[in-house]
Amino acid sequence: MRLPGLIDPHVHLREPGATHKEDWDTGTAAALAGGFTLVLAMPNTQPPVADRATLDRATALAAPKAHCDYAQFLGAGPDNAAEAAACAADAAGLKLYLDQTYGPLRLDEMSLWKAHFAAWPQDRPLVAHAEGRTLAAAILMSALTDRPLHLAHVATREEILLIRAAKERGLKITCEVTPHHLFLTEADLSGGWGEVRPRLATQRDVDALWANLDVIDCFATDHAPHTAAEKAGENPPPGFPGLETALPLFLTAVHEGRLTLEDLVARMYTNVRRIFKLPEQPETWVEVDLDATAEITAQTMQTRAAWTPFEGRKVRGVVRQVILRGEAAFEDGRVTAPQGYGRRIR
Ligand code: DOR
Ligand code: ZN
Repeated sequence: MRLPGLIDPHVHLREPGATHKEDWDTGTAAALAGGFTLVLAMPNTQPPVADRATLDRATALAAPKAHCDYAQFLGAGPDNAAEAAACAADAAGLKLYLDQTYGPLRLDEMSLWKAHFAAWPQDRPLVAHAEGRTLAAAILMSALTDRPLHLAHVATREEILLIRAAKERGLKITCEVTPHHLFLTEADLSGGWGEVRPRLATQRDVDALWANLDVIDCFATDHAPHTAAEKAGENPPPGFPGLETALPLFLTAVHEGRLTLEDLVARMYTNVRRIFKLPEQPETWVEVDLDATAEITAQTMQTRAAWTPFEGRKVRGVVRQVILRGEAAFEDGRVTAPQGYGRRIR
């Protein structure tokens, strides 16, 4: 069965600054192994990507190492609205961190948000990390400034119902949900292993996400690798690796009749391309075996994280081959696209 090359609009590849967790080499190799041919990298690196110099630095590091195609997000800071907007054509989009997460990028005051909503070009992707009531405020800001806003990793019943209401009102809101918020609850992992932002929620929240699938525009992994030692240690950082488990989990859901292949392709390709205004990748597809069964294990993964919150889970649906721009990029469990094969798509 052939699927389009999947697009993940939300990954953390950790370079520059934390290459012991991941880098452009291992992160884009993990993407191909998971059936993704294009990834959009988040800006909460060290240093954060927030201006022309840091954007150039991150993409210069990516160019010789990336196995799959990519673009880099800019991060909204307290005083970079004009400078970020000047780089809009060369970035995946602008990311606003409105609630606390990993790294220093965070905008507390709503007047700071407003500067970015006003300066960032209307037709370029604007993405917010906003949870609970912050999400309500972000939707209001989108309505007041009449500009599209994409909401990252929606995780709870109250959030998805609010987004449904906003969409019914005609507001320019789109959203994504992660596999971990669809396939795990707070009861599934303990201690540092379960730390992630937004937090894992209750079964009632998970059920509400599935019941409102029609409101979910995209599936995004929020691939956020931290090492096993960090997750097991003091002050465990939030985040799960996700690039290599997303497609098998969703194909398993297709097998179980919880969603259709059309639902999957819409959320992992068509809608992502439309919302993030991404170019077509010619001669690019993923060959999956819908009947093959497998057990998820970090041992065979490309990510440097070397662990997964889905360890031991039985899945149905395996990536056999990935063709990227006419060349085999992943085959028989091995990444065959060399480093540097990936192209920066803006
Ligand atoms: O759990 C998370 N980890 N959530 C985020 O929003 C950021 C991410 C990270 O970069 O580790
Ligand atoms: Zn994230």
